[in-house]
Formats: sequence, C-alpha cells, structure tokens
Amino acid sequence: MTNHIDRVLVGYAGTGGSTESIATFVAARLNARGLTADLWDLAERPSVEGYDAVVLGSRVRDGALLRAAENFVWHNADALRVRPVWLFSVGISPSLRGPVGHLLRDIVPTRIAELCELIGPRDYHAFAGVVSRQGAPLLARIVLRLCGGRYGDLRDWQAIETWTDSITAYLRGAVPA
Ligand SMILES: Cc1cc2nc3c(=O)[nH]c(=O)nc-3n(C[C@H](O)[C@H](O)[C@H](O)COP(=O)(O)O)c2cc1C
Repeated sequence: MTNHIDRVLVGYAGTGGSTESIATFVAARLNARGLTADLWDLAERPSVEGYDAVVLGSRVRDGALLRAAENFVWHNADALRVRPVWLFSVGISPSLRGPVGHLLRDIVPTRIAELCELIGPRDYHAFAGVVSRQGAPLLARIVLRLCGGRYGDLRDWQAIETWTDSITAYLRGAVPA
C-alpha cells in the first residue's frame, strides 16, 4: 500500500521579507498541488510533530543561517533526520558573476554544510534574495563589486517554482518508512 505524505511544515527565518516571501510561495504552491502545507516563522519554534515532511528556509548572514533556523535544526535534529527535509537559503551568493563570483557561489558555507550533515536534507538549494545597497558597509560593497554582485530584487521565481515542484513530485510518490 502506498501512503502519501500530506502534512508539510514550511518554516522560515528572515528579517527583510525576501525569505518569508519565498517560503510563502513554496507553501502556497504545495497547497495548490494538494498537499497541506503550514507556514511558520521559525522564531515561533513550531513543533515538527504531526508533520510528515519539512521545508526550511533562512536568509544567509555572514556565511550562516539565522540563529532561529540554526536553533530549530539543532533542537529538532532527531525528528528531522527521520523525515524528508528540504533546506533552502536566501542570499546574495547565487547571483555572483565573473571568475571570482563563479568560484564563490558554489561554495556551501561551513555552518550550513554542518547542518546538512546533521539532518541529511533531501536537497539544499541557495536562492538569490533581495540585496539592498543601503546600509551595506563600504568593504562589503567593494567585495560585492569584485565578485560581480548586484543590488536589487534577485529572486528567481521560476527556479523557486521548479524546486518546489520537485518537492511535490517526491512527496506524491514517496512511501514513508
Ligand atoms: C549584513 C549582511 C550580511 C549578509 N551576508 C550574506 C552572506 O554571508 N551570504 C549571502 O549569500 N548573502 C548575504 N547577505 C545578503 C542577504 O542574505 C540577502 O539580502 C537576503 O535576501 C535577505 O533576506 P531577508 O529579506 O529574508 O532578510 C547579507 C546581507 C547583509 C545586509
């Protein structure tokens, strides 16, 4: 007998709204495809109990996910390890261009790699977010320029949609242990 996975927790951690907007899109698209996806701010420390699968997203700040996302993963590691989990980050690195940018954008920051090691997500994907010039320190602006970085709304909705549909495809065909 095939048991379909239905209930999905979509949790996010962000500060400026772009991570929340991507998580909102993911949850809405999963719901539109017949799954039951609940959207949670990870700062509210949602419980994994009652969910068959989990999608987690966080903005990247200084090479790490936000503390709320890291804490959620560490506190729920056992529960996450036995569920299908997808992890996404939102930052500037996926949009980097040029020789240096190409080298940098494929590097998974150590702290994110450690979380992946801990819970073994089915996939980790780095999405580009919204990058503001305002408030960015001079050094950061120089580094960004050298790495082919840009400012503005860099969200790639087509890529987000494709990624979300790969989750639906897996869940619709999955048989939980
Ligand atoms: C202080 C600061 C540090 C950042 N550090 C990183 C980083 O290490 N890696 C990255 O890819 N993006 C970095 N970014 C870009 C943000 O992650 C990006 O703007 C993201 O879309 C913000 O998400 P939010 O709107 O959900 O808060 C940084 C931005 C700021 C302002």
